[in-house]
Amino acid sequence: MIEAIKSRKALAIVLAAGEGTRMKSDIPKVLHEVAGRSMLAHVLAAVGGAQVVNVAVVVGPGRDDVRAEAERLVPGAQTFVQAERLGTAHAVLAARAAIAGGCDDLLVLFGDTPLVTRETIIALRAALAAGAGVAVLGFEAADPFGYGRLIRDDAGRLMAIREQKDASDAERAISLCNAGLMAIDGARALGFLEKIGNSNANGEYYLTDVVELARAEGREARIVVADESEVLGVNDRIQLARAEAIAQMRLRRAAMAAGATMIAPETVFLSADTRFGRDVLIEPNVVIGPGVEIADRAVIHSFSHLEGAKVGAGATIGPFARLRPGTALAENARVGNFVEIKNATVARGAKVNHLTYIGDADIGANANIGAGTITCNYDGFFKYRTQIGENAFIGSNSALVAPVKVGAGAYVGSGSVVTKDVSADALAVARGRQMEKAGWAAAFRAAQAERKEKK
Ligand code: UD1
Ligand code: MG
Repeated sequence: MIEAIKSRKALAIVLAAGEGTRMKSDIPKVLHEVAGRSMLAHVLAAVGGAQVVNVAVVVGPGRDDVRAEAERLVPGAQTFVQAERLGTAHAVLAARAAIAGGCDDLLVLFGDTPLVTRETIIALRAALAAGAGVAVLGFEAADPFGYGRLIRDDAGRLMAIREQKDASDAERAISLCNAGLMAIDGARALGFLEKIGNSNANGEYYLTDVVELARAEGREARIVVADESEVLGVNDRIQLARAEAIAQMRLRRAAMAAGATMIAPETVFLSADTRFGRDVLIEPNVVIGPGVEIADRAVIHSFSHLEGAKVGAGATIGPFARLRPGTALAENARVGNFVEIKNATVARGAKVNHLTYIGDADIGANANIGAGTITCNYDGFFKYRTQIGENAFIGSNSALVAPVKVGAGAYVGSGSVVTKDVSADALAVARGRQMEKAGWAAAFRAAQAERKEKK
């Protein structure tokens, strides 16, 4: 199908001017996140995946945050303000200047319908490539109430879309509904849109009227059918959670299809941008936030939390490890239980196995970081770096007060507070010296016992 659309110029208009009242939020609806990125980002990713280069986003008044997100996601995206919400066709016409630029395929998508796939958008475009004047995304609704119904003639051809409020009882019995997304012949789009009026039960300009207008010109109106889960619109936090669940299921499937093993996939949470190598093993109860790459054969043990981290081939993490943004673990690095790492590199084969905080640090190859090691990276105002050379050995319960360097092959005695650089291959011990008084404890006990007896 992709071949059929390759040479066609497409413009996608994403409607995002809704107020999102039911979200009860200070954040605009389309910036709420699903699988670690905004709903708008999901829609724009699907659009990009369907070879659509030109993008216009219609936002509500004063929504500079949505505008900025659109421009960040698609450099060169145009944004338009819909000053008053007068209906979906009115919203599309807010982007009139973009439409007037001309295209073969005009796509209309909703910013609050984040699960639409590139394949579906390609199918809509392919319908136009095959000659349709308009292609509409439909779905079989479990509960059709509130949706526009797809009205077909006896031959099954789409004739019109009727909104709930305007529909007759017979029309309301139809369960094939309009998902809202559509593709319109770019050459006629502006002509159709300008003809749309607002004489309906809502007094709104309905985008759905395009179907009858296209039919009136003898053009074919096609239906592309999607699963209801793909066209879920998010209006409140309950629907947001539903969208999240569907997105997670898809991401887990894709990860497993790409060669990652998940023992209990339903307990693993991924982000839309999580990248896996082959033969990665993810144990139950792992949370992976945005910006994580996990290379071949890495093992993520249970209850680990990763965000903004790169995990090298063959590395093992956790159980109960936390990798924060800026962590880069090289091949075969080992990070054990109750270890937190942020903004740090851990070179090949290095081990940070227990109860440790590593922040703003570079750990050399095959270094061993003992249990309870802390990099003291912050003085309340600034952050400082700790550098540990390859093959260095940091004894347990040491504090490394940054900025500080421990040379390659050096040892740091357990319990040290290291405030000065340590030379390569040296031993640094920075703790109270041990002393011993022979027989002291026995003498102390005897003296105390005697005192007690006399009382
Ligand atoms: C629309 C469809 C309906 C379909 C349903 C699917 C029309 C006339 N109706 O109805 O057939 O079954 O979606 O969910 O298209 N928006 C704006 N500006 C506006 C109006 C809407 O930006 O002036 C945006 C909204 O933020 C939303 C989308 O367009 O993202 C759809 O608007 P909404 O009001 O939800 O349309 P429905 O009445 O649900
Ligand atoms: Mg709606």
